[in-house]
Amino acid sequence: MTQVAALDVSTIRKEFPILNQEVNGYPLVYFDNAASSQKPKSVIQALVDYYSKDHSNIHRGLHTLAERATSGYEQVRKMAQTFVNADEPEEIIFTRGTTESINLVAQAYGRKVLEEGDEIILSEMEHHSNIVPWQMVAEEKGAIIKVIPVSNFGELILEEYENLLSEKTKIVALNYISNSLGTINSVQEIIEKAHHAGAKILIDAAQAAPHLKIDVQELEADFLALSSHKMYGPTGVGILYGKRELLEYMDPYQGGGEMIKEVHFSGTTYNDIPYKFEAGTPNIADVIAFGAAIDFVERIGHDTIQTHEKELLEKAMEGLNQIEGFEPVGVAKNKASVISFNINGIHSYDLGMWLDARGIAVRTGHHCTQPLMDRMGLEGTIRASFAVYNSPEEIDSFVDSLSQIIKKFGK
Ligand SMILES: Cc1ncc(COP(=O)(O)O)c(C=O)c1O
Repeated sequence: MTQVAALDVSTIRKEFPILNQEVNGYPLVYFDNAASSQKPKSVIQALVDYYSKDHSNIHRGLHTLAERATSGYEQVRKMAQTFVNADEPEEIIFTRGTTESINLVAQAYGRKVLEEGDEIILSEMEHHSNIVPWQMVAEEKGAIIKVIPVSNFGELILEEYENLLSEKTKIVALNYISNSLGTINSVQEIIEKAHHAGAKILIDAAQAAPHLKIDVQELEADFLALSSHKMYGPTGVGILYGKRELLEYMDPYQGGGEMIKEVHFSGTTYNDIPYKFEAGTPNIADVIAFGAAIDFVERIGHDTIQTHEKELLEKAMEGLNQIEGFEPVGVAKNKASVISFNINGIHSYDLGMWLDARGIAVRTGHHCTQPLMDRMGLEGTIRASFAVYNSPEEIDSFVDSLSQIIKKFGK
């Protein structure tokens, strides 16, 4: 087995200026990473440098700044290609994030292939952004959505998935890691089965990108979507990976500058991929800073990140299991560093507010997974999600604070 380098959390924390502050008189403990992670200095500096030295519009100018901005932007396409191990940079499309990437596939692929009575398979643990775009296209085309159920442990029931697959299945769309439960899904197996049935599959890797090494070629994913802001990069940028032949087959998503070869009133010809899907001036600065985020993750390495986060997860579960009334939601065998739970007798919103009063940021509510909450018979949960800069001491402080709050306000 290869040795995984131990993580020096105190050094990593120094790279994140935002962590060095008090909230409500307590040191900030940021456990809302599944919603959005914080940004290292290198990402912030990349934005400052770009706007201070290199900004111009891309792809069209001949001057030096246009050349610098274009090469910075295209360089990140290559970095993203390596990050997900795509075959070619043209298979990487920059979008505003996972949501836009999924909408792009639903509109530009789904609308083209789906016919009345065709089926789309989703799962009960999808984020709304991997449900609603499919509902929209299904409604328009008369397609039917089928749903893979989730067990009480928070795992997909794969036998049911097999029963749902048929020659009518055109698209399967599924998250790699559930944002609400932390479950790591067996995507490799799920992809193989989708292909066996003749369907194409989209993997929502929004939660996987900061935790796991993604390899689209090994997975044989047809499409994969992720967001920069969940992996230490800026908001407003993400990628869609798509296999070349699928992207070439698809119609454009939006019309405008950049996505065309020639425009005449007698007719317009579209650009090649990836530009066919990047209409208008893109989010150049944030794409460039996304490159710094990719660098940050790769510098530490996914193995080291995973080992560290697993330790945090185990420590937190050990502490939380001692708390009376602790009810975990989702206890899958294969889990990322996300803990969803309720405390018997206390509303999750109240707990979230009382934790905030002690400087601890967690998320409460349905986490944009209302169908999953319906399945679990819950209104919502409290979610603590850990990142590379979180420390064992923060876990202690979280568990202690929770115990004190429960003593004070519990029944
Ligand atoms: C699993 C999953 N999919 C999709 C999304 C949507 O990502 P974004 O809001 O960055 O587009 C999220 C965000 O929470 C998520 O956790």
